[in-house]
Amino acid sequence: MFFSDSLNVNEQGHLTIGGCDTVVLAHKYGTPLYVMDETGIRNALREYKNSIEQNYESGGMVAYASKACSFKEIYRIVMQEGCAIDVVSGGELYTAMQVGFPAERIYFHGNNKTEDELKMAIKYGVGRIIVDNFNELYKLADITSKIGKKSNIYLRITPGIEAHTHEFIKTGQIDSKFGFTLENGDALKAIKTAVKLNSITLKGLHCHIGSQIFDEEPFVFAAQTMMDLIAQVRDTTGVTLTELNLGGGFGIRYTKDDKPISFGGNMHKVLKTLEERSVYHNLPKPFIIIEPGRSVVGPAGITLYTVGAVKDIPGVRTYVSIDGGMTDNPRYALYKAPYSVLIANKANQPADCKMTIAGRCCESGDLIQEDAMLQSCNSGDIMAVLATGAYNYSMSSNYNRITRPAVVMVNNGESRIVVKAESYEDIVRNDI
Ligand code: LLP
Repeated sequence: MFFSDSLNVNEQGHLTIGGCDTVVLAHKYGTPLYVMDETGIRNALREYKNSIEQNYESGGMVAYASKACSFKEIYRIVMQEGCAIDVVSGGELYTAMQVGFPAERIYFHGNNKTEDELKMAIKYGVGRIIVDNFNELYKLADITSKIGKKSNIYLRITPGIEAHTHEFIKTGQIDSKFGFTLENGDALKAIKTAVKLNSITLKGLHCHIGSQIFDEEPFVFAAQTMMDLIAQVRDTTGVTLTELNLGGGFGIRYTKDDKPISFGGNMHKVLKTLEERSVYHNLPKPFIIIEPGRSVVGPAGITLYTVGAVKDIPGVRTYVSIDGGMTDNPRYALYKAPYSVLIANKANQPADCKMTIAGRCCESGDLIQEDAMLQSCNSGDIMAVLATGAYNYSMSSNYNRITRPAVVMVNNGESRIVVKAESYEDIVRNDI
């Protein structure tokens, strides 16, 4: 019923996560509250890891895309699972280094890394810097030659495959701020340039075709396209690239209409394609990296709120106001993202009321969901928004000087704070 193994309903009719009663959590820690199930996160990482280990003899690495949710404890969990991470900023890199994340297992992305960030990455010795454009390629080569420390890089390729949810398009000229375009020859030009630069070592290629994808075909097509490019590189430069990073993008279930593909099953097809293409081109099978973000943390997280005002406008709609909103979850305001919502203390009651869930910002667009079906509710009830583990905490803000909620990690009936709630003191910390 609830789309995630982390969730259940107990005898009192309360929603549970990771074996903890959400109503108890809401009272113990206060609301709004992000809650994440550690077992759910670890299981998702293991499923990806096993799918590579069991199906692909050339090996690979699962690099959790930490933009989906970044704080120290997440990096500790990923580290303990023997996985790698993808970071996209000095801030994410710094957070990971604070818990002693092995630098060689870090993949550093971003379409406009600053000079300071590049220097920081080199100083820490991150495993791979994914170079996004010519400007960065020359900037990095310049920095590494001055420092006298070689850097291992991938080039981000825009392969002309754009995938979103249920659709994907094979476009030649993709309109994207990211990467070197394949179709117009930029990709090959960048590769030829990179292999000649002395202060960097081109180890492989990267692509990422989109996010919240429910189709296996675009992943398979991307794998095939990238293998064909690796063959072209070998044929034109004599260099055989042996690492391939295929990015993330695996979709998750936000509502009952979403039908995610099996991660293991999808990986099986992708890996088979890599094997087939390597035989066809007479290339070694590359070491493979995947970068799932949303699918690792999304289903493992929920957000709890306390219901405040309920306002019925007859013939129009009923607004339910909660004690959070677009500051802790901007995804509806930004993308009209669908979510499943329920009243956590009435989880076994019928969801027969149509309500619009409004946040507390001075902003009409501050909504979490419009016309959602949920249990009848009153002020003081606890509301749960499901599958908020990805791109909620990490995209939160202090708009209206609202403090960010705490993050609580639950595991087999135990709970602990992993990120403290912000205080008003935190809000003014940098004000002069
Ligand atoms: N690798 C790269 C290079 C990426 O750009 C991304 C996501 C990922 C991996 C992870 O993709 P995932 O497995 O999470 O789909 N804020 C948006 C999502 C933006 C995704 C950006 N890149 C949202 O809330 O839906």
